[in-house]
Amino acid sequence: MRLVLLGPPGVGKGTQGRRLAAEKGWALISTGEMLRDAASKGSPMGLEARRQMDAGLLVADDVMIGLVRERTSQPDACSGFVLDGFPRTVPQADALDAMLDERGMRLDAVLYLTAPEEELVTRLTGRLECPVCKRAYHRVNAPSRDGVHCDDHVSAALIERADDVEDTARKRLEVFRMQTSPLAEYYRRTGRLVEVPGVGSVDAVYGRMRQVLDARQPTIG
Ligand code: AP5
Repeated sequence: MRLVLLGPPGVGKGTQGRRLAAEKGWALISTGEMLRDAASKGSPMGLEARRQMDAGLLVADDVMIGLVRERTSQPDACSGFVLDGFPRTVPQADALDAMLDERGMRLDAVLYLTAPEEELVTRLTGRLECPVCKRAYHRVNAPSRDGVHCDDHVSAALIERADDVEDTARKRLEVFRMQTSPLAEYYRRTGRLVEVPGVGSVDAVYGRMRQVLDARQPTIG
């Protein structure tokens, strides 16, 4: 299955996408993670991307489309993938359809996770991330066992993302409203969008997503 997780910053795309991909054996493709990785390696593209990310702005469409074209053609993505963070603009969505079409494939579903804005700010400003496996924790909602290290990488101290400070988090939410939320209508028009409330426990949200996907499975190749 080829799936897009659409939704504002902090709604749980990474948390849910990681679990779904692991359970189903699909590749998890997180464009935010790919950019942070490129930035940490200091490539010119990565450093330019970091400037945009730190300002809460989007990275250029052509850069993102090139990255996703390359990543989705890798062998681990053949049996299916979950896209977390892509597409984020209408040109990116058009490019995704075109690149899948070239390969005789199509996007099976777009799950649109939603939550109230103040809840999103609370989630973002309390998030901690494992630098090794990128698993997201939350200082209050989902702390690790000792609150400091990753449960799965006990020597890795959890870190805060630079773009999770409140001002930047709010800027990212505004950018989502202006540039990414129109994609909901884009996918609704073509019958691919399913809205899933992203509030409640992580397990409750995951259960809703599974219900939607299980119901669509018979129609999906
Ligand atoms: P990216 O890394 O994609 O960030 P994002 O979309 O802003 O999403 P987040 O990772 O912040 O949130 P999430 O929805 O994954 O939530 P999570 O599961 O972590 O992008 C970063 C930047 O890269 C962008 O700003 C842009 O600059 C650039 N970029 C990336 N892709 C791009 C593209 N396609 N085009 C252009 N630029 C691009 O959860 C958040 C927190 O909430 C965690 O602490 C978690 O524990 C907690 N939580 C999760 N679920 C629940 C729940 N049900 N209840 C309570 N807490 C919960």
